[in-house]
Amino acid sequence: MAESPHVHPETTTPDGSDPRCVPHKLTAPLPIGAECPYPDYSAEEQDVWKTLYARMETLLPGRAADEFLTGLKALDLERDRIPALADVSRKLQRATGWQVCRTPGLLDAHDFFSYLARRVFPSTDYIRARRELDYTPAPDCFHDIFGHTPMIVHPRFADFYQKIGQAALNCKDAATEEGLTRIYWFTVEFGLIRNPGGLRIYGNGIISSSGETQHSLTDKVRKVPYRPETLAAQPYDIWHYQDPLFVIDSFDQLESEFVRWAKERQLL
Ligand SMILES: [Fe+2]
Repeated sequence: MAESPHVHPETTTPDGSDPRCVPHKLTAPLPIGAECPYPDYSAEEQDVWKTLYARMETLLPGRAADEFLTGLKALDLERDRIPALADVSRKLQRATGWQVCRTPGLLDAHDFFSYLARRVFPSTDYIRARRELDYTPAPDCFHDIFGHTPMIVHPRFADFYQKIGQAALNCKDAATEEGLTRIYWFTVEFGLIRNPGGLRIYGNGIISSSGETQHSLTDKVRKVPYRPETLAAQPYDIWHYQDPLFVIDSFDQLESEFVRWAKERQLL
């Protein structure tokens, strides 16, 4: 894969001119856990985090998956201050054995999946500018920390996420890689789940976008049952809201069906 699927439809510039959109090919290991320094954030940057957190906190009840909200609560992320990656890493390690490493930005796909395969989540530590509250050209730490880490608290999602990384490293042909990228896209970034209370969002590409969070659960979007073969065959358009979206019944189903798909292709 030319670049990480860790790219979001509402956030990528058409010509990739923003340096935040250029994937990094690593030449040295990234700092992990306690090795991640806490940046000297300005008061303005801390306030952007606070604004984004407050906005999502009002939108997510009744829309975000129970499992996402449980993970968010377990991590106890600071509302008024950008959390330290070292602290988030420590909490994740206690929950599911995952750690966080600090990435300078988007990663080359092979590097990105190599970390996932070792149960390490690459997170940025910079935050978007205030003018980018609704639009940033690449993931920032609000997307990575607030949006991604709560799901990694869930044991079955955490195992699934690692297996996506392991399977990606074993892809031998472009068609299988494309299929896996689509599965990643329609689950980790754009997945829906049927909770006891109704249809809910667990994909961070949706949770990162207040517009898509409100749009995705409406009847304007087709909802299709999750089956890896169906996702792998579904192209996506990064410039528009996603349609269709795919619905899992549980994270057990998400993982077990993915493992079946990957084993049938000798990826696991
Ligand atoms: Fe993401």
